[in-house]
Amino acid sequence: MNTDLPTRHKALTKWVKKMINLCEPKDVHWCDGSQEEWDQLTQELVDKGTLIQLNPEKRPNSFLARSAPSDVARVEERTFIATKHKDEAGPTNNWCEEGEMKKQILELFQGSMKGRTMYVIPFCMGPLESPLAKIGVQVTDSAYAVLNMRIMAHMGSHVLERLEKEAFGEIESRRTKPGFFIPCLHSVGAPLEDGQEDVPWPCNDEKYIVHFVRSREIASYGSGYGGNALLGKKCLALRVASNIAREHDWMAEHMLILGLESPSGEKTYVTGAFPSACGKTNLSMLVPPEKYRKEGWKTSIVGDDIAWLWPHEDGRLHAINPETGYFGVAPGTSYESNPTAMDSMKENCIFTNVALTDDGDVWWEGMTDDVPAHLIDWQGNDWTPEDGKNGVKAAHPNARFTAPAGQCPTIDPEWQNPEGVPVSAIVFGGRRKTTMPLVYQSFNWSHGVYVGATMGSETTAAAAGAMGVVRRDPMAMLPFCGYNMGHYFRHWINMGRKVDHLPKMFHVNWFRLDQDGKFLWPGFGENMRVLEWIVDRCKGRALGHESSIGWVPTIDEIDLEGLDGFGEVEFDKVMAIDQNEWKHEILSQGELFINLHQHMPRELVYQRELLASRIID
Ligand code: OXD
Ligand code: MN
Repeated sequence: MNTDLPTRHKALTKWVKKMINLCEPKDVHWCDGSQEEWDQLTQELVDKGTLIQLNPEKRPNSFLARSAPSDVARVEERTFIATKHKDEAGPTNNWCEEGEMKKQILELFQGSMKGRTMYVIPFCMGPLESPLAKIGVQVTDSAYAVLNMRIMAHMGSHVLERLEKEAFGEIESRRTKPGFFIPCLHSVGAPLEDGQEDVPWPCNDEKYIVHFVRSREIASYGSGYGGNALLGKKCLALRVASNIAREHDWMAEHMLILGLESPSGEKTYVTGAFPSACGKTNLSMLVPPEKYRKEGWKTSIVGDDIAWLWPHEDGRLHAINPETGYFGVAPGTSYESNPTAMDSMKENCIFTNVALTDDGDVWWEGMTDDVPAHLIDWQGNDWTPEDGKNGVKAAHPNARFTAPAGQCPTIDPEWQNPEGVPVSAIVFGGRRKTTMPLVYQSFNWSHGVYVGATMGSETTAAAAGAMGVVRRDPMAMLPFCGYNMGHYFRHWINMGRKVDHLPKMFHVNWFRLDQDGKFLWPGFGENMRVLEWIVDRCKGRALGHESSIGWVPTIDEIDLEGLDGFGEVEFDKVMAIDQNEWKHEILSQGELFINLHQHMPRELVYQRELLASRIID
């Protein structure tokens, strides 16, 4: 093996050599990110049976991967924050002692890439020129990870060159530590002995997703699945970045970034934090109702999953999307529910664990009303609608599409602006059958932090007898905050003092039900009507009305024109603030406060008291 490494970056050379000695791969390939490299790797994976090329007439340059049935999702219980003291990780994370875990990792990875190629992926999260951009280098033995990383991040020779030039002071860098990179070690944990035949989706039952947050290192073992294997995404851009952000006065958040352009050309950007299964991708790609489109309203997307926010010199909070692609849940996505997503995945995509149609295209539950008469399901078996009736899914419920963001028809022209976009509003939301009105605005920043910190989503009705049980998911960061959640709330409160023109904060709930279990609000594109009120509030155009939980719209401030069957009665129902429900809510929020009491900022304790005093008469 040629061990002359093609970089003059000394620390990188040293680290990669160390990784080669540790993992003992048969080859090393430095990824240049070129089309030729993509073509070569996809061909190799097609030959090996890991990928199936889709019909180029239907889905050009796109591929289907079927994972091992045991490797289909993020593994929160195997995700660790490694620090010296448990308190640094806090009660909501799996903690491990960093020295102990280092030792374990070295043992685990020793020889882990035997018989395989080690790919070295230089990548950058965020526009290269942005002061917030973070360069990482992932070594991996998964070519599938390489292909996905090429879609999800800036990746290849140009990133390596930038890192080298920064290290040698040959170009100006606005990054805090020019020449620094975040080492990301990944192995599927399936070494091949001489002559041993490979399987299409190698992985290991033993999985470790470890974040050494103080030294900014990531090690992921045993899984090839996106969230565990594409280390730029959840591992770097959220868990590690949230630590960096805390130390350097910015914020790494699990948020979409959406642009709203009024008929007069006024542009407003909002970010939104929502737990899984609450329509985040749909909201980021929202198509306004016809009435709005006719008037000249336009929406655009900067990001669908992660936002990095910082106090810009102009006195506002600015946001970039550190990613360059979407790793979206396929089932339920259709031309009805999200035409923008469907148009984004017409070509150059990787699909994972969806079904294959007889004419070489993809299908998943909810994609079309007509269910194809025959499919090959995500496990490679024949599938007919009869199987569907028996509960066998054609696509895995967590099947994914990986699509380049640049292909999205509503991509915002500023999405790669290194300065980011100025944020006027932060929207929190969850799936709540009761209690939460369609929309309300916090009274101020620390109240807004309280609203975000206490947000939750109801567990499905299946939870026997557990009416109104809510899983608290503060700022939708429960699985992604890389340090103590109490300190995270403190950081949010502190950020309020660092920005001259703070965004306004809102809470929305598209999912409130009536007494017959029907949705009170139509959702999807109609959410534009709520967003318009949010924009109006940000621009000081809607007076609103002060309620016990925050500012709420009056009926004449929400445009209901063309919304059949939705009048004053429905508006009152969807906006109702029920005292009993709120008493229950405050008590239920108490669980979070007990869990995090050691580091809960006093401001939030007082906010809870104030809320109780406004609700309870
Ligand atoms: C995601 C997630 O994949 O939040 O974005 O799990
Ligand atoms: Mn996410």
